Amino acid sequence: MKRKRVGVLISGRGSNMAALMQAARDPHYPAEIVHVVSNRADAPGLATAAAAGLSTAVISHRDFASREAFDTALNDHLQQQALDLIACAGFMRIMTPALIRPWAGRMINIHPSLLPLYKGLHTHERALADGAKTHGCSVHLVSEELDGGPVIAQAAVPVKPGDTAETLAARVLVEEHKLYPVALALLATGAFRPPGKPS
Ligand code: GRF
Repeated sequence: MKRKRVGVLISGRGSNMAALMQAARDPHYPAEIVHVVSNRADAPGLATAAAAGLSTAVISHRDFASREAFDTALNDHLQQQALDLIACAGFMRIMTPALIRPWAGRMINIHPSLLPLYKGLHTHERALADGAKTHGCSVHLVSEELDGGPVIAQAAVPVKPGDTAETLAARVLVEEHKLYPVALALLATGAFRPPGKPS
């Protein structure tokens, strides 16, 4: 099977992107990471990608007058890369239909909660404030509802006595790095089929 060409969108550290890159070093992995785009020029993940020989680009949202204008430019750029799939990895932007629709069923995101719990920001703080006993992460298709698309895979961790948002985030992040390559492979092989898509 031909490996799927994947573009990764980041805004910062890029540790999930690095986990995908690591998985894709295996020639049997069904996807290859071919391009990385950051909306922030100072994202540390850009150096990680460049050091691995990946092509990178910075498209700053600050250069555009509206969310739609930024998303249109980003989509135009992504369309030029001959990508099959997009993986958002700490891409801290609320996306509009201008970016979401062209990639429907082909764009995924990792979110640090057990969706549908704790959509949006500050997930670890909110889980602790609720006294949750279990927390975790999800990989889902990107849909027009924020953090609301169909879930592909999830991983759970225990919340331990004395946890802070930092200790809990670190425990979840270990699972994110394992989960994201698995979920991307499920989509790349067709093992996960978006709801409503005939087999
Ligand atoms: C991760 O926790 C991810 O789930 C969330 O933002 C964080 C990004 O971390 N969306 P990194 O940039 O992948 O290291």
